Amino acid sequence: MKKLIIGILASGRGSNLQAIIDNTKKGKIDAEIGCVISDKEDAFALERARKANIPAHYIYPGTHKTFLDPECEAEYIKCLKKHNVELICLAGFMRVLHPPFLRVYRGRIMNIHPALLPSFKGLHAQKQAFDYGVKVSGATVHFVDEGVDTGPIIVQRAVEIENDDTPDMLEQRILKIEHKIYSEAIQLFAEGRFKIIGRRVIKK
Ligand code: GAR
Repeated sequence: MKKLIIGILASGRGSNLQAIIDNTKKGKIDAEIGCVISDKEDAFALERARKANIPAHYIYPGTHKTFLDPECEAEYIKCLKKHNVELICLAGFMRVLHPPFLRVYRGRIMNIHPALLPSFKGLHAQKQAFDYGVKVSGATVHFVDEGVDTGPIIVQRAVEIENDDTPDMLEQRILKIEHKIYSEAIQLFAEGRFKIIGRRVIKK
């Protein structure tokens, strides 16, 4: 059977990308990675991709800090299409995508967020949760919609926050969970084992 082709967008060290690479190799995800794209020329994620013989592209993001300039966004879409990408996975991609991008790939873009959404959206979610004093936080994989961290939730998993935790310790524990649940969400998509009713992603 033809494998699902995923495209991964990453801005940084790419540990989630690495977990996805490893799990495709282990057969835990029935998908192949068509390409990895970064908005940062020196992102370690690009090196991880090259090491795994995956096409790796730096594409200039434009002059804005939080989103891609429209003409740059078009270049991203062109590249994803060239590699026949069917599902886009944002893995530490620190930019907001615009409606034109979302229209092309509606329902086919996932993101991982290091908190239990809808709590602690945006940047530094682990630190936000720690400083707020919650006793439980975690990680969320969700579909991307027009908002920031607002799309339908696919998989979520919790971690408890202990008295002697530090923000760094919490971040590490959440990251371990991220590495597991992103692959689970991708596999769910690959098998088409879900339906969406309103905001609810229901496993079949
Ligand atoms: C991860 O913790 C991911 O959840 C977070 O960036 C980190 C990327 O790490 N993403 C966000 O905060 C998005 N709002 P990685 O480059 O090692 O995968």
